[in-house]
Amino acid sequence: THPAASAPSPSPISSAGGDSHAVTRTLHGDVLVIAIDNPPVNALGVEVRRGLLEAIEAADADAAVAAVVIVGVGRNFIAGADIREFGKPPQPPHLPAVCDRIEASTKPVVAAIHGAALGGGLEVALAAHYRIAAAGAKLGLPEVKLGLLPGAGGTQRTPRLIGARAALELMLSGRHASANEALTLGLVDRLSKTDDILIEGLAYARELVATRQGTRPTRAANGLADEAASRAAIEAARKETATRSRGLFSPLKIVEAVQAALERPFDEGLALERRLFLECLDSPQRAGLVHAFFAEREAAKVPEASAARPRPIASVGIVGGGTMGAGIAVAVLDAGLPVTLIERDEAALGRGRAHVERVYDGLVAKGRIDAKAKADAMARLAGSTSYEALANVDLVIEAVFEDMAVKKAVFTELDRVARPGAVLATNTSYLDIDEIAGATSRPADVIGLHFFSPANVMKLLEVVVPARVAADVVATAFEFAKRLSKVSVRAGVCDGFIGNRLLAVYRTAADYLLEDGASPYQIDEAMRAFGYPMGPYQVIDLAGGDIGWAARKRRAPTRDPRLRYVEIADRLCERGWFGQKTGRGFYLYPEGARTGVRDPEVEALIEDERKRRGVTPRSFTDEEIVERLMTAVVNEAANIVREGIALRPLDVDVTLMHGYGFPRYRGGPMKYADTLGLANVLASLRRFEKEDPLFWKPSPLIVELVDRGADFSSLNTTRG
Ligand code: 3HC
Ligand code: NAI
Repeated sequence: THPAASAPSPSPISSAGGDSHAVTRTLHGDVLVIAIDNPPVNALGVEVRRGLLEAIEAADADAAVAAVVIVGVGRNFIAGADIREFGKPPQPPHLPAVCDRIEASTKPVVAAIHGAALGGGLEVALAAHYRIAAAGAKLGLPEVKLGLLPGAGGTQRTPRLIGARAALELMLSGRHASANEALTLGLVDRLSKTDDILIEGLAYARELVATRQGTRPTRAANGLADEAASRAAIEAARKETATRSRGLFSPLKIVEAVQAALERPFDEGLALERRLFLECLDSPQRAGLVHAFFAEREAAKVPEASAARPRPIASVGIVGGGTMGAGIAVAVLDAGLPVTLIERDEAALGRGRAHVERVYDGLVAKGRIDAKAKADAMARLAGSTSYEALANVDLVIEAVFEDMAVKKAVFTELDRVARPGAVLATNTSYLDIDEIAGATSRPADVIGLHFFSPANVMKLLEVVVPARVAADVVATAFEFAKRLSKVSVRAGVCDGFIGNRLLAVYRTAADYLLEDGASPYQIDEAMRAFGYPMGPYQVIDLAGGDIGWAARKRRAPTRDPRLRYVEIADRLCERGWFGQKTGRGFYLYPEGARTGVRDPEVEALIEDERKRRGVTPRSFTDEEIVERLMTAVVNEAANIVREGIALRPLDVDVTLMHGYGFPRYRGGPMKYADTLGLANVLASLRRFEKEDPLFWKPSPLIVELVDRGADFSSLNTTRG
């Protein structure tokens, strides 16, 4: 739909010289409609800012104009500042000045909002004197997610309009509010009764003119009148931010700006906001978060998706109802698709179904969904112990045991029953998908869909592309990921694909440190300080040490005997110390506690291993720990890009941010390496190489890029 296009036949004003393409002005009687038309999302690039400023000045000067309506063309009002301009020299007119000029208009200005009114887009609306929103509108100040604060008066106008508490909550969470909620909060004055936001905006403006209601600057609103309540809200937000947003730069600045809104005159608050905004704009966190924003959109652009049309998917089969199968079932059911679950026997099927139900019960208990939504989802779930039930589904996802023989047997069955053209996917973590595809007569239909646990929560989907798969199957996988609201990344076939291959190197580097003198507790603390939610040994304790142990035993026969192998984790497992589920692992978990405590017996065990291996323990600083773990990951990731397992460095970034807890504000490991300077990364590798030439062998890609004076970002071109 094209709201502005469905307007009553427009009559362009003759005096509208300098009408820019991105902003058009149309006079409807005595109401001037200023329409923002800057696809895809009406971002406030320099053209739009200039056009808006000129239009509002023209309206003020034109005696034929009694009121103004600002509206967006296309699917949105305005999605905010043009994120592509960040990091480049800012070009006037600046958005705060444009907003001030709108607010200073002598004619009443109505913002007619549909779709997204986000960031600078909402700030434009707040600078207008009146606001009306369509039913599906999304209003928010998501700047914090980009390492910024609202920088066009948002920190000053929002609390004055809706109070400090609500304003802080919006700005610190960055979430989108619905039109209904926006009305309740007082962010908008009324809701549109129909879908035609332009007609409704015009009617609102005409009503204002007819009833002689004048301008109404938001800066004069009294949302901060209750000083004690405002102060309490600011202090509460400051406290919460210190713990919840640990390591982040912009949230505390948001609190500071709102405090200025309470304590200082409007213009002083605005000046402070501008200064803080520019500080944030300059921060590496802003650069990392903006990289993350674009990287997760670019990652879905793969050659196959632009070369081939996806196959339609209307029903899904899942084989294996364990941890992953049940989680995947929820993710698929949540997307509104019917699921047929296959298990080995009735008992296992019952467990799988119960697992799915438990997930929904949890969501109901938390108030995320209601009982009816749960019932609707469960009604879409069918189950069987016979493969024949999959005869008509469009996509099958296999999630049985991680065992090649079992997987091959399953795919032989799928080949027998599935209809021609059905997509056959495996959720394997490590196994060779080319070999799995070889168990069928239709390898062109076989692909990897690697979900992460819990599959209905984790955003990442690694689409693993074997050699013989058809392009339209790859396109189908990316389309399917979008339907499941997943962030998708294309990976090639190798042991562990992108994510688990890097996880293995990360853990190996940590184990080397462990044997060489660092404690698991120091390593975990250093990585948390770097921004991971958990350190590597906490993660092992959470997932269960037995899983990695089984994988190590499986790989033992093929392990490169020249590679250093640390046995500490094996010693723990031999004692049955598998982590949280056994009450002890690298940490002790007294009486089922979720957070572990230091275990002197583990420290003694590590000390014994060092002695046995003849290692004289050294001490490492937290910085050295981060340097070694990150250098190892970046180096392996460079090999992954070089081998074409990842299309671009950004695909690695997205994988680790969405599947492995890599701190988003650093933009992923490759962005982080660029921030450090690739020459510095190479220098670290050269230093570590002297200790262990095999593990620390610099990737030829890093050597080549440093030689050329280039970095990873130079390889981040779109492949779509
Ligand atoms: N600037 C530049 N490009 C933008 C953009 C923006 N603010 N918002 C979206 N885009 C681009 C995307 O990169 C994408 O480009 P592509 O097609 O080349 O990949 C295209 O617009 C469509 O975006 P989506 O794929 O995300 O489309 P959706 O329909 O799924 O979502 C949206 C639309 C909800 C508007 C979503 O794009 C979004 O959340 N955008 C960011 C909003 C935001 O963060 N605004 C605040 C900016 S900071 C600010 O305003 C500072 C101010 O206070 C001074
Ligand atoms: P699980 O052991 O919890 O579940 C496996 C299920 O498959 C069991 O319910 C079993 O009864 C069923 N099953 C086994 N053989 C079957 C057959 N022939 N027909 C039908 N059902 C059969 O295992 P989990 O953790 O769910 O893993 C499944 C797959 O997902 C594995 O390939 C694993 O590597 C992968 N994976 C696991 C992740 C995790 O975090 N657990 C993450 C990503 C992938």
